[in-house]
Amino acid sequence: MHHWGVLSLYLLFIGSCLCQYKPTWESIDSRPLPEWFDQAKFGIFIHWGVFSVPSYGSEWFWWYWQGQKYPSYVNFMEQNYPPGFTYADFASQFHAELFDPVEWVDIFASSGAKYIVLTTKHHEGFTMWDSKYSWNWNAMAVGPKRDLVDEIATALRKHSDLRLGLYHSLFEWFNPLYRADANNFYKTNVFPTSKTLPELYEIVNKFKPDVLWSDGDGDAPDTYWNSTGFLAWLYNESPVRDTVVTNDRWGYGSICKHGGYYTCSDRYNPGHLLKHKWENCMTIDQRSWGYRREAKLSDFLTTEQLIGSLVETVSCGGNMLLNVGPTHDGRIIPIFEERLRQIGQWLNVNGEAIYNSSAWRVQNDTATPGVWYTSNPKQNAIYAIFLSWPTDGYIVLNDPIVSASKTQVVLLGYKSVSWQSMNPTGLKVHLPQLAPSQMPCSWAWTLRLTGAM
Ligand SMILES: *[C@@H]1O[C@H](CO)[C@@H](O)[C@H](O)[C@H]1NC(C)=O
Ligand SMILES: *[C@@H]1O[C@H](CO)[C@@H](O)[C@H](O)[C@H]1NC(C)=O
Ligand SMILES: *[C@@H]1O[C@H](CO)[C@@H](O)[C@H](O)[C@H]1NC(C)=O
Repeated sequence: MHHWGVLSLYLLFIGSCLCQYKPTWESIDSRPLPEWFDQAKFGIFIHWGVFSVPSYGSEWFWWYWQGQKYPSYVNFMEQNYPPGFTYADFASQFHAELFDPVEWVDIFASSGAKYIVLTTKHHEGFTMWDSKYSWNWNAMAVGPKRDLVDEIATALRKHSDLRLGLYHSLFEWFNPLYRADANNFYKTNVFPTSKTLPELYEIVNKFKPDVLWSDGDGDAPDTYWNSTGFLAWLYNESPVRDTVVTNDRWGYGSICKHGGYYTCSDRYNPGHLLKHKWENCMTIDQRSWGYRREAKLSDFLTTEQLIGSLVETVSCGGNMLLNVGPTHDGRIIPIFEERLRQIGQWLNVNGEAIYNSSAWRVQNDTATPGVWYTSNPKQNAIYAIFLSWPTDGYIVLNDPIVSASKTQVVLLGYKSVSWQSMNPTGLKVHLPQLAPSQMPCSWAWTLRLTGAM
């Protein structure tokens, strides 16, 4: 072959897409998940939008008020707002005047999380970035008059090594174009082609997220949303094709079945190992994703409970995505901040049992409740994380196979501890008697076993 032939072949190659993935679920589902996601284990979810202005009930405020007409929401509006006040009127009260993205990033990084996922558009349809496809219903045109997604993305990249994830709702409760398609039983697709898909291409090209967290299929099939067509572009051609991960909420019936990692349901925590990578998305305020002013102290999960969920999730092969709801003026309230910083303190001591870990042969101990295992095969280590400190000075681990000459046990953040083997299997680990000030950490503790199986 002469030189021109080689050159033109080469030009053909670089000028076109390799198009490894076809727009079918079979092909989309065959893509290996980029490694970083399973290593990360812990992310922060942020629900922020116009719903943060009423900050009452939940981020589904608009739907519960005017879609469902729930009396508590109708009464709330009648008692506190003038007649004729619309949901759109809340947007001009969304000022974000105390919002400091660098401070947010400091809080997120202090938690030990490795990624964030930010609502760029919830079911209300308000875009938190300066979208070309959402005239007068975006954060640049109304309310803050700032591109909030851009500010958070920029601060995150400048001040941390956390990865950026973007949440995006496919459907919008009250968008007339969506309602018209729904009335046609999704035989027309004016809404996805003129709104949803252009927005998805826009946020991927502009912000280059490493997580794309899709939600809100509105009970419409993935064929209506052209989800496989979009995902084929995302995986083959987009600027984040090598690093991006996505979830499973891409159309009616795709959840827990198709896409990238599985979310299955909100607050999903199966308690056993899954073969497919999954994520437990959950909230500190047990009753809402968006900020709600009427929350009681008892509605917030404690640090102990949150660390318990993280440990259980990671033992069973999942990642935990923990949600905070900022206020309309742009604050992350101190109770959320304290929870996040305390999880970070715990991870500073116990991170080697969490980050980059793999599920072990057994997930929780078969004899002692509240003991969860992870492992690191490269370090030949098994980690036993216990959620309460025993009162009798020792803990029994029933499942590891130990060897008198090889096995070593270390309490992370402290030092080696003594142990004896049990009959027929397992070991009894003697815990040191420590004053609270000598404890390596609070909330939960980790034993690292090496030379055991
Ligand atoms: C679906 O997406 C693919 C890939 O972007 C595109 O080529 C195709 O035209 C889209 N189909 C519709 C009906 O929008
Ligand atoms: C996890 O592994 C990756 C890839 O080997 C490495 O870059 C990263 O530093 C590790 N993270 C931690 C917290 O050990
Ligand atoms: C292990 O965890 C599962 C799921 O949470 C639970 O049903 C089981 O009782 C636990 N085992 C022990 C010994 O606590």
